[in-house]
Amino acid sequence: MGKSAKIEFDGKSYTFPVITGSENEEAIDINQLRSETGLITYDPGYKNTGHCISEITYLDGENGVLRYRGYSVDELCQKKSFLEVAYLLIYGDLPTNLEIQKLQEDIREEALVDEDLKQIFKSFPKSAHPMGVLSSLTSALIAFNPLNETKISLKDSAGTTEKDKMYLSTIRLLAKFPIMSSWTLRKIKGLPLNYSNNNLEYTENIAYMMFAKPNQDYKQNDIIVNALNTLLILHADHEQNCSTSTVRIVGSSYAGLYASISAGISALWGRLHGGANQAVIEMLELIKNDGSDIDKYINKAKDKSDPFRLMGFGHRVYKNFDPRAKIIKKAADQVLNDLGIDDPILEIAKSIEEKALNDEYFIEKKLYPNVDFYSGIIYRALGIPTEMFTVMFALGRIPGWIAQWKEMRDSKNPIGRPRQIYNGPTHRSIS
Ligand code: CMC
Repeated sequence: MGKSAKIEFDGKSYTFPVITGSENEEAIDINQLRSETGLITYDPGYKNTGHCISEITYLDGENGVLRYRGYSVDELCQKKSFLEVAYLLIYGDLPTNLEIQKLQEDIREEALVDEDLKQIFKSFPKSAHPMGVLSSLTSALIAFNPLNETKISLKDSAGTTEKDKMYLSTIRLLAKFPIMSSWTLRKIKGLPLNYSNNNLEYTENIAYMMFAKPNQDYKQNDIIVNALNTLLILHADHEQNCSTSTVRIVGSSYAGLYASISAGISALWGRLHGGANQAVIEMLELIKNDGSDIDKYINKAKDKSDPFRLMGFGHRVYKNFDPRAKIIKKAADQVLNDLGIDDPILEIAKSIEEKALNDEYFIEKKLYPNVDFYSGIIYRALGIPTEMFTVMFALGRIPGWIAQWKEMRDSKNPIGRPRQIYNGPTHRSIS
């Protein structure tokens, strides 16, 4: 007999089962709560609500632990490529040499974007934010890649299976999203749009597509590729955050993968979520241009009547160091050093961190630097424009969103549909 939890309501007692995860996390299973008691739960922001059982990512916010399919992100960053980690997240295990070669080859075959989609891209004004552009283009992908005309169905007279379709949608997204992302960067920089270099490995190719200049021999910079590999791995999944829950909930209505991920991109865009990496750099610039008066901004962040918050600080789940931030801080020092860049905002960031970590307000509320605090400093050192930072986050998160969407569909989760407590006017008539 497993554990259970009792709820007393209106003089009656109800018992509900407790579910235990593989890391001993516990949850009250309230599936039958409303039918048995008439009650619903009220939990704005879903701070205490688990909406799925997942095998993908384990996160222990109190102890600063983050693992993908059991492997610590730290070890993955040191030993694996982003594409191998993508495979791990989506398919559950690290790939063999043959499996990763096949994935890379299949991606290369799909590394094209329809010319009509390119026209849509070109028609966006240069001032458009890349996240809005990418959300639109990702949703539009299905129009140019309908799944009933797949190569698999041409080869296979029995037609596609759901598994074939899922595989093909996955490959296409992994192939086309980096091209579209690099186009948004190239447009900002006034560079001509390009395509993949099929001799390169996945992350190397991302660097190539973003940085290759016309009429110049492209020479790969390993410092840049290694930094990208680390950042993309650290962004690859983070269990049920705002954008991932969005992807799951949109997909739960049986909307397709591209539409669901397009919604995830929009959710990520906000500055409380992935957009924080852009907001951090804007904040550090603001502080620098205002005489680097760090105390002034720490005080503003603590002042409840001031809307200013310390961007890149705090997290819904981490009440200890965000393990991603630890790795990124070290990488930022190394990348700037290796590239010979002296960026004054790195020093401002470090001073803010030091002051905040010794300040009663931040200690009491357990506010630590999160993944976005130092990532923008690295992106900036790599020559990536500020408005592209959240795109880099999205580029890394694509495999995680795919894995979560796939798991949600495979586990036949019901449609996501929360309830509410109505607090408006009671019945009235038009007089
Ligand atoms: N600066 C100042 N005060 C803060 C901050 C901050 N960055 N973050 C939280 N607080 C305070 C907040 O005012 C609240 O105080 P009180 O209890 O007195 O009302 C308390 O700490 C708890 O914060 P909350 O907003 O209730 O917590 P939340 O879990 O709803 O929000 C958060 C989490 C990440 C949205 C929030 O910490 C924040 O706005 N941080 C800045 C934006 C940011 O860096 N976002 C990136 C998150 S990491 C990337 C990702 O995975 O999305």
